[in-house]
Amino acid sequence: MVQKTKVTGIGAYLPKNIITNNDLSKILDTSDAWIQSRSGIQQRHQADEGETTSDLAVSAAEAALAHAKLTPDDIDLIVEDGEGNLVWFDLTFPATAALVQKKLGMRHGAAFDVQAVCSGFVYGLSVASAMLETGQAKRALLIGAETMTRLLDMQDRATAVLFGDGAGAIVLEACEVAPEDLDTASHVMGSYLRSDGELSDILYGDGGPSTSGTTGHLRMQGREVYRHAVGNISDAINTLLQRTGMSIADVDWFVPHQANKRIIDGVAKKIGLPLEKTVVTIHQHANTSAASIPLALCQIVQEGKVRRGDIIMLEAMGGGLTWGANLIRW
Ligand code: ACO
Repeated sequence: MVQKTKVTGIGAYLPKNIITNNDLSKILDTSDAWIQSRSGIQQRHQADEGETTSDLAVSAAEAALAHAKLTPDDIDLIVEDGEGNLVWFDLTFPATAALVQKKLGMRHGAAFDVQAVCSGFVYGLSVASAMLETGQAKRALLIGAETMTRLLDMQDRATAVLFGDGAGAIVLEACEVAPEDLDTASHVMGSYLRSDGELSDILYGDGGPSTSGTTGHLRMQGREVYRHAVGNISDAINTLLQRTGMSIADVDWFVPHQANKRIIDGVAKKIGLPLEKTVVTIHQHANTSAASIPLALCQIVQEGKVRRGDIIMLEAMGGGLTWGANLIRW
């Protein structure tokens, strides 16, 4: 038998407050037409004052546990993929995952954060599935939760219009698969991770306890990020397909990080995936960083579109730069 990991539950949470592009155009020199044509975004959700990242994470985690018909007592690992800054985290420390553990009333197991910015969910899935496959835990909650709108500089119209708040979570369970069943059994088939710290200055938060002592704001050289995105993401997908012995024709669903509709379309075109297999939620959610993949995946699962055995490709690129992909047989 081979030790593998499978997804057994999924859930999401979006704050009730919706901010449209027209709402933003009342406080910024921007327009619905500019935002939609550059990014595909129509609206974003915004956390209420007093609603923290861990609150969003707990709501998504509870929905995922209910979907898996499990309780916090059944979980022995929490991996939270938030951003690495005071604003996104509830506190400078401890990890948001530890606060989620407390709010779920879970008094056992381990909880920690993974900091890979928008690639957090892809990194977190790689880390959590490796831990389950090596027997370090049996069931994990993997949560992508973000309050990105709190990190925006509302004087910088080029970034202020692009991001939203939200959370998504999956339950991962260790499983044993007979080698002859690997072609059909539900499992995480593989992950591929990359980073290049030389590019840390094109997308970053300009604060931090050991530098400015402030929380800072999100800073991005949009054109530079765009220039690297399509090539890096396509390379990650092609490498992962090669390593898992799959081809692009085998992929049933492409669930990309929702950074920008133009990046999503560019990647789909470059790797040869038809748009009908590509899941797009950016028009409703904007860029929710590490939450965008589980939010998009949850949407197609809840719509009943995903069937057991479907091959799902996840991918993301974010600050670091970090980027990568995961392949799942549902
Ligand atoms: N409304 C109206 N005009 C604007 C706005 C706005 N919100 N923002 C910028 N502009 C103006 C600029 O001032 C500039 O005006 P000028 O020509 O008079 O100087 C003009 O629009 C063009 O500005 P650019 O920054 O060059 O705009 P660009 O066409 O590159 O689009 C964008 C900006 C959407 C950020 C683009 O670069 C992009 O898609 N980058 C990818 C980065 C991305 O998606 N990041 C998401 C986070 S990272 C991640 O998740 C991977």
